[in-house]
Amino acid sequence: MSLHLTDVTLTYPDGDSRLTALDHVDLHVAAGTITAVTGPSGAGKSSLLAVAATLITPDSGTVVVDGVSTSGLAKAELTDLRRSRIGIVFQQPNLIASLTTLEQLQLMNHISGRSPAAALDRARELLDAVGLRDVADRRPHQLSGGQRQRANIARALMNRPAVLLVDEPTSALDSERGAAVIELITTLTHRDATATVLVTHDRTHLAGVDQELVVRDGRPAQSSAR
Ligand SMILES: Nc1ncnc2c1ncn2[C@@H]1O[C@H](COP(=O)(O)OP(=O)(O)OP(=O)(O)O)[C@@H](O)[C@H]1O
Ligand SMILES: [Mg+2]
Repeated sequence: MSLHLTDVTLTYPDGDSRLTALDHVDLHVAAGTITAVTGPSGAGKSSLLAVAATLITPDSGTVVVDGVSTSGLAKAELTDLRRSRIGIVFQQPNLIASLTTLEQLQLMNHISGRSPAAALDRARELLDAVGLRDVADRRPHQLSGGQRQRANIARALMNRPAVLLVDEPTSALDSERGAAVIELITTLTHRDATATVLVTHDRTHLAGVDQELVVRDGRPAQSSAR
C-alpha cells in the first residue's frame, strides 16, 4: 500500500491561456504513514489531492496507486481503482440525507460490488472505531458536525483503501473536535496501514504526521520528514 506521484504538472484552462496549478510536484507516501500537505489558499493542495484520487488526469507526470500505474487506464478502470483502493474524505461531509450512519457505510460496499455478508461486520467495527456506535441508526441531520465528519472518515475506510486522501477535515469543527478527528486519522492510518495524505491549514495538526509537503503557487516549496 503506497502512493507515488512523480513530476506531476497540472494546468487548468484560464481564458486564452492556462493556469499552472501543479508544477513538477513529487509526492511519495508509504504504507502506515501520513503526509501533510500545507500551503496558502490557492497553492494547489486540493488539486494535488484530486490528481492523487485519479479524479483529474495531470498534463504530465505519473500516479501510482497501491502499485497500479494509472497512466493509460480507461475511465471505467479508474473508477474501479477508486472504489477498491482509494478512500476520499472531502472538506464538507457529503453524506446522503436519507441514509442512516450505518447505511452510509454499507452503501460503499454495495457500490464496490462486494458481498454484503461481511459488510455489516466491517461497518459496525468502523463505527466503533470512530465512536459512532450509538448513533449508527441516525440520519445526518441528527448528527453533530464532528459526528458527521467522523462518519465521513469511516465511510472512506469501508472498502479497506490502500490510500486515504483527506482534505481539511476539521474546518467545520472546533479545535477540540478537530484534534480528535486528526487523532482518529492517525490511529486508523497505523492500524490499517493506509498511505494517508492530509491537507490542512492548521499547524497544530502536524504533530503526528510523518512528512510535510509545503506547496506554494503549485510548486513544492519544501518537503521534510518530521
Ligand atoms: N476547476 C478549476 N478550473 C480552473 N482553475 C482552477 C480549478 N480548480 C482550481 N483552480 C485554480 O487552481 C489553483 C489551485 O487551486 P486549489 O483548489 O488546488 O488550491 P488549494 O491549495 O486547495 O486552496 P484552498 O486552501 O483555498 O482550498 C487556484 O488558483 C484555483 O483558482
Ligand atoms: Mg483546497
